[in-house]
Amino acid sequence: MEQKIPTRAEALTLLHQYNENESLRKHAYAVEGVMRYIARKRGENEDKWGIIGLIHDLDYEKFPDQHCSQTKEILAEHGWPEEYIRAAVSHGWGICSNLRPESDLEKILYAIDELTGLVVTTALVRPSKSVMDVQAKSVKNKWKDRRFAAGVDRAIIEKGAEMLGVEVDELIADTIKGMQEVAEAIGLKGNPT
Ligand SMILES: [Fe+2]
Ligand SMILES: [Fe+2]
Repeated sequence: MEQKIPTRAEALTLLHQYNENESLRKHAYAVEGVMRYIARKRGENEDKWGIIGLIHDLDYEKFPDQHCSQTKEILAEHGWPEEYIRAAVSHGWGICSNLRPESDLEKILYAIDELTGLVVTTALVRPSKSVMDVQAKSVKNKWKDRRFAAGVDRAIIEKGAEMLGVEVDELIADTIKGMQEVAEAIGLKGNPT
C-alpha cells in the first residue's frame, strides 16, 4: 500500500477501533497531549508528534502479548509511514521491542509514556483530583516512594532523560503542562472551586 501522512482523525478512528477501554483511551490522549506540548515547545511538527503519541499503544488491548509488534502490523496494513511506525514501536524498547529510541521524538515518547502514569496518580491523590493542581515538586517527592504508582518504572524515565540530555525535572514539568492541556479528555479536570 502506498504510504501517506495519516491525519489525526484517521489516528483517532484507529484508536477507537482497537481500544474500547476508556482508561487506555485516556492514556493515549495524555501521551498525545504531552507530545503535542513538547513538539510545540521545540518548534517540531506538532501533529506528527501528537498522532504518534495517540497510537503508540494501539495493539495493547487486543494483543497484550504481542504489544508493539501488532501495532507495527496494523499501521503497516494501513499504509502508515515507516517513521511513524518506528517511533511507535520504539517506545517499548527493552520491554516489547528491540528498537532503540533514536530521534528526539522517539526518546521523548519513551520517557514520557511512563511519566504520564505518575502524574495521573499524583493528580488522583489530590482532594480536587485535578491535574491542574499538580506541581512538579509533588511528582518529584514521590520519585523514591516505590509503593506510590508502583507500576511506573522510574528507571525508564531516568534513562529517557539521560538519552535526551535533559533533566528529569524538565520532563516532569513538560508532562504536567501537556496533560493540563487535555485535562478534560483524560478525566482529570477535577472540580475547580
Ligand atoms: Fe506501551
Ligand atoms: Fe503507553
